[in-house]
This record gives sequence, structure tokens and C-alpha cells, in this order.
Amino acid sequence: MDLNHTKWFGIAVNRQKVLPVAKQIDKMNARNEQTIHLPQPEVSEQGLLKMEIRQIELSDAKNFITFYNTLVKQTDFLLSTIEEATKTVQQQESSIKKCDDYKQIFIAIEDNEIVGFMGISRNPMSKVKHIANFAIGVLDAYKRQSVATNLLSFAENWLKDKGVSRLEMTVISENKPAIKFYEKNGFSYEGTRHNSIKMNNKFYDELFMAKIINK
Ligand SMILES: CC(C)(COP(=O)(O)OP(=O)(O)OC[C@H]1O[C@@H](n2cnc3c(N)ncnc32)[C@H](O)[C@@H]1OP(=O)(O)O)[C@@H](O)C(=O)NCCC(=O)NCCS
Repeated sequence: MDLNHTKWFGIAVNRQKVLPVAKQIDKMNARNEQTIHLPQPEVSEQGLLKMEIRQIELSDAKNFITFYNTLVKQTDFLLSTIEEATKTVQQQESSIKKCDDYKQIFIAIEDNEIVGFMGISRNPMSKVKHIANFAIGVLDAYKRQSVATNLLSFAENWLKDKGVSRLEMTVISENKPAIKFYEKNGFSYEGTRHNSIKMNNKFYDELFMAKIINK
């Protein structure tokens, strides 16, 4: 599917206003600036920050690379190492062009910055195409602010429209925050893959977790 011809859709979520000043200071440090500029974040009348969740577009390629490289440096719990994650803009654009009903990336955006993602993939074979597998991640500075919850809920609605009724993934057994997140969102434990991950010369188990989603 050529995303240039895809109808844009997305949601804007209002959520509690959090860390705007700390965020600006982080950005300032990253730019090595001496003066604090505090542009007003987009805030609704109720004082809530706006977060947009939508399907990735071709023009997001560069920002997505920056986001994903930062994310992979912040966590060991995604499959790719930083070396494996690094892509050129051209490679990222080519992946985005391949996005379709069976492989898709959803992004969460705040202040024009990508702060979270959820990547889904489905096997198109008829007996299993009702299953979607996924990976999800949120930048440290935006954790515990419902970014992943909103990404998951957006993706669930999108997937239900495509006829998906089962969501599944594996999570490293040491990844307690993610396990808590999945349990809170209705996923159940289905089994263990022993020694399925080898990281820094140590083996880790993965837990199978899944959720049945209905229309
Ligand atoms: C797991 C992850 C995606 C959660 O993202 P998030 O945006 O912080 O999650 P939310 O704010 O939507 O959290 C929803 C609920 O999940 C649970 N939860 C999330 N993080 C938690 C933590 N660190 N400790 C305990 N519970 C946690 C809580 O119940 C939380 O609700 P609450 O904040 O009202 O208590 C995020 O921690 C992350 O990106 N981790 C690194 C990458 C990763 O591990 N991905 C999953 C690989 S399988």
C-alpha cells in the first residue's frame, strides 16, 4: 500500500499536563543552549496536554529514526540492539512504504516529537490472519503518562476493523513494568519460552501473553 494515497487518520488525546518545564530543559540541554525558551505547549481549555496518535507517514521517517534510536538506547527490552536498529532515512522510508493491513506502525506525538510507537505484524495466511503480534515502546520522559495505553487502544480499534480478534506478544520475564502494563490492559499469561533471549552472555525467559479482542 502506498501511504501517500492512504487517507490520514488519527486521534488527539487530552491527558494530564505533565513535565512541560522539565521537558523544555531537557531539549535545551540537548541543544546545548544557555537560555530557556518555553514555547507554550498545545493545551486545551481544561489545561490538558494534547497527544496525537496516528499511523506513521512517509514524512515521519527522519523523526522516527531519531525516536527509535533514543528508545533502543533507553531499554534492553526491545529485540533490536542499537546497531541493528540504526537505519538510513531511505531504509526507513522504504519500511514505511511497505506498511499495510498486515504490517503497520502507530506513533504517539507530542509537541511535534515522536514519543511512543506500536508496531504490529500479522501473518496473511487465512487460518492465522486474525492474530496480530506487536512491539510497543515509550521514551523514558513520557512513561506513566498513558502513552502506551492510548497507543494500544488506538491499535485495537484499527485491528478490530481489519478482522483481528487476537493480540499477542512475548515479553522478557524480567520486564516487570511491561508485564504490569499488559495485565492492566487485559492480557493473560499463556506460557514460557525458556532461555529464548541471549543478552550480554546471559539467557532470559520470555512469557507468551495474549488478549482476545472482540468487536
Ligand atoms: C511498557 C511500556 C510500553 C509502558 O508504557 P507507558 O506509556 O509508561 O504505560 P502507561 O502509562 O500507559 O501505563 C499504564 C499502566 O501500566 C502499568 N505500568 C506501566 N509502567 C509501569 C511501571 N514502571 N511499574 C508498574 N506498573 C507500570 C500501570 O498499571 C500503569 O497505570 P498507572 O500509571 O495508572 O499505574 C514502557 O514502560 C516501555 O516503553 N518500556 C520499554 C520498552 C518495553 O519494555 N516494551 C515492551 C516490550 S514487550
